[in-house]
Amino acid sequence: MSSATEVQSDIRDISLAPEGIRRIQWAAREMPVLQLIRERFAREQPLKGIRMAACLHVTTETANLAIALQAGGADVRICASNPLSTQDDVAAALVGEYGIPVFAICGEDGETYYKHIQQAIEHGPQLTMDDGADVVATIHKERRELLKDIVGGTEETTTGVIRLRAMAKDGALGYPILAINQSLTKHLFDNRYGTGQSTVDGIIRATNVLLAGKVFVVGGYGWCGRGVATRARGLGAQVVVTEVDPVKALEAVMDGFRVMPMAEAAPIGDIFVTLTGDCHVIDRAHLEAMKSGAIIANSGHFDNEINLKALDSLSEGKKRVRDSVDEYLMGDGRKLYLLGEGRLVNLAAAEGHPAAVMDMSFANQAMGAEWIVQNHAKLEKQVYELPHEVDEEIARLKLHAMGIRIDYLTDEQQRYLTSWEEGT
Ligand code: ADE
Repeated sequence: MSSATEVQSDIRDISLAPEGIRRIQWAAREMPVLQLIRERFAREQPLKGIRMAACLHVTTETANLAIALQAGGADVRICASNPLSTQDDVAAALVGEYGIPVFAICGEDGETYYKHIQQAIEHGPQLTMDDGADVVATIHKERRELLKDIVGGTEETTTGVIRLRAMAKDGALGYPILAINQSLTKHLFDNRYGTGQSTVDGIIRATNVLLAGKVFVVGGYGWCGRGVATRARGLGAQVVVTEVDPVKALEAVMDGFRVMPMAEAAPIGDIFVTLTGDCHVIDRAHLEAMKSGAIIANSGHFDNEINLKALDSLSEGKKRVRDSVDEYLMGDGRKLYLLGEGRLVNLAAAEGHPAAVMDMSFANQAMGAEWIVQNHAKLEKQVYELPHEVDEEIARLKLHAMGIRIDYLTDEQQRYLTSWEEGT
């Protein structure tokens, strides 16, 4: 334990707790749906006595989720889902103020990162909550004896869902998983508006460069890429999109973006961001072609979207020139700038998605945990999605909190939609 606290933990510094508490409360203002769920959980105790291990980015928003789960009766432990995303003051507040065990330190090395995952599962979880499937992978590879107590898990992100579906397809998944990312109230908002704003925020906080007039290359036009492309355009950048999927590429064209292969974008780009979920989207040849001064960032889950080994081997050395900015001096004299060590730039260099979108993502997580507890006996070792009614309920609660009213179908309209006899 790094700090003298009663709750078992491994965090940077418990004395950071007061700042963490202030920031957690600030985020809570923008999380009304999670707040309603927390109040209901406190009354109904749907997670009473359930041991949970949550591997999430340790942010103010995650803290509000953890507090809601705890209110619902869960015995929750938290570790980080990325070595650079932990907000140390939040970790301190969770431990010191809320009595929630946290194992996460910003900047931890790979060994500590995995040690923390082990500590988070030490109590033998019955439910896991992942952002990138690292807990599921650790349990399946190294701690199989824990499988017997686990009734299910949730997964937050696209990359994790891809990993878990591959496991289910191979018959390797040991318990049912709820793919939170697939909820509409998650990916349409968190992936698009959350990643859109927070990625641009991370690039700006790290570099303070003006985006207007820059050639801004977005690798990948999924929901995250769309969000980033749209926001970068809003700030006046000339946005170029690269894609491998012809439908998404066409969509990007018709959304008004220039589309070309990365090999063509590499020599003209000023700023590059990858958001594909795949490896080496920016590869050696692209790094060789980039102009001096190019800024490179990743906002996909893992730090493998940029070929960092090639970057190292092509360069004669690197130095930190600002927080979250490493200058690589290339063999041919060019300088390339890597943000956040190639890890999620929105969390490494900024604070991740704003609370207003995490409100819906984490409402899905909380309702998902409850849904698994209620339904696990009926579930196979497969990847599931939350029922659409839950999505609709979360959307209605969010609209209500925003003071926005909508129409309802009249009986006549309802009849029209369900009949086949009426036509031209
Ligand atoms: N993923 C992206 N942004 C996040 C945030 N603010 N908190 C937790 N997970 C996140």
